[in-house]
Formats: sequence, C-alpha cells, structure tokens
Amino acid sequence: MNDLANRTVLIAGATSTSGRAVAHALLDAGARVVAVGSDEGRIRELEAELPGIIGEHADLTDGDEVLELSMRVRARTGDVDGVIHLVGGWRGGGGIMGQTEEDYRFLERSFTALRYVSRVFWQDMITSTAGRIVIVSSVTVESPTPGNANYAAVKAASESWMRSLAHGFAPRPVDAVGAQMPREPGGGAAVTFRVKSLAGLEDRLATSVVDLWRAEAAELNGAVIELRP
Ligand SMILES: NC(=O)c1ccc[n+]([C@@H]2O[C@H](COP(=O)([O-])OP(=O)(O)OC[C@H]3O[C@@H](n4cnc5c(N)ncnc54)[C@H](OP(=O)(O)O)[C@@H]3O)[C@@H](O)[C@H]2O)c1
Repeated sequence: MNDLANRTVLIAGATSTSGRAVAHALLDAGARVVAVGSDEGRIRELEAELPGIIGEHADLTDGDEVLELSMRVRARTGDVDGVIHLVGGWRGGGGIMGQTEEDYRFLERSFTALRYVSRVFWQDMITSTAGRIVIVSSVTVESPTPGNANYAAVKAASESWMRSLAHGFAPRPVDAVGAQMPREPGGGAAVTFRVKSLAGLEDRLATSVVDLWRAEAAELNGAVIELRP
C-alpha cells in the first residue's frame, strides 16, 4: 500500500471550508501540501492557520499563470504526486432561459482550471508511483434540471475529462504484433467524488481524499464515488 509520507499533493482551490479540511487531513497524514488559491490574502491566512503548508497564489483559469505556478512548485517541492481540484462555485436557477452566458462563463472556469492543472502536472502524476487526481462533482450530472443546466453540463464535461485521465493512467501495452494487451494496473488514479451538497461533508471528503493513498490505484482509477451525509 502507498502512503502519504514524502508525497506532494497540490490543492487547487484550497481556501474554502472543504479545501481547508482536505489540507488539514493531508498534512496530518504526512503529505507535503501545496495550497493554491487566487487570493493571496486568503492563502497567507491559510498558511498561518496550518503551519507547514506551502501556499501559492495563482489564477488557475489563466494558462500562463498555471505554467509559472508549476515551475515554482517543482522548484519548492519537486514533482507533484496528487492534485485535488476544488475550484468551483454555483450559479443557476431561472429555468432554461435563466442559463445566462455570464453564469456559464463563471461556471466554466472550474473546467478550464481542471484542464490546465491536470495537463501541467500530468507528467508528474503518471511518473509518480502513486499519482492521484480528484474532482468533486455533483449528483445533478445524473439528474440535471432546467435551472441547473449550465452547472450540470460543466460538471459532466469535468467528469468526461476525468474519464480521459483515467484512460491515460492505465494505458494498454501493445504486443509484438501491435495488438492491445489486457489493461495493466497503473500507479495512478483519477477519481470523481459526487455530492449533493458539501455542507457538513467537508471532513468526510478530507478523509476520503487521504484514503485514496491507502488503496491500490487499479481499484480506484476511473471511480465515481458518491459521498452522502
Ligand atoms: N459546495 C457544494 O455544496 C458543492 C456541491 C457539489 C460540488 N461541489 C464542488 O466541490 C468543489 C469544492 O467546492 P467548494 O464549495 O469548497 O468550492 P468554493 O467555495 O467555490 O471554493 C473554491 C476555491 O477555489 C478557489 N478559486 C476560485 N477561483 C479560482 C481561480 N481562478 N484560481 C485559483 N483558485 C480559485 C477559491 O479561493 P479564492 O477565491 O481565494 O481563489 C476557493 O479556495 C467544487 O468543485 C464544487 O463545484 C460543491
């Protein structure tokens, strides 16, 4: 089994209640934790609250900033083993006609950040012996409503991206005649948690994230795990 000692885990969007809970649990489990948010003041507060955490501020929806962040992080900690993606937020309501462009652009930032962060740290995660990448999606992906259409569509896109990452973690080797061999378990796993609401579930999420390093990647890769109260 893997554990978190000497692992570096980056939390993308670390200053919310859930981000703080995940950061705390990962630190307690022995990980090096890189906490990222766009607001420098909130990151400095988190550093003061959780001594040992490595704070970084960057706009994760800006590709250049994400690239610069990755270089700073590698200089400070070496390669990253895990990414916990928590950039989110909700806008909606008003039925189909209420699904405005402005709200869509706001919601889509979460998916954009996921794409940037997963790509910039992908090489690290696939060469790690215990790479993990995690998102928190929503049960609305399975039961979207008119008022949630933008939100559910963005979460569905994020889940699709995670399935692609899961395939990337577990490539099928090709045999001597070029045929794909049965899938071998890789060292990495892309995992989607789904919740209805995170309120009150922050510690459950934190424990579940830590547990990802206590299970084998082959059992986790591609999993969609619902967290219920
Ligand atoms: N809350 C719920 O009930 C619920 C339900 C279903 C799914 N989820 C999902 O669970 C995840 C965590 O939810 P949450 O409620 O804890 O999220 P949240 O309150 O929206 O927190 C988002 C975090 O991301 C940071 N952030 C926002 N924009 C950023 C940017 N451009 N660059 C860097 N950091 C940025 C925020 O800090 P700064 O503003 O300081 O940058 C904050 O730390 C999200 O993906 C959310 O969609 C939540």
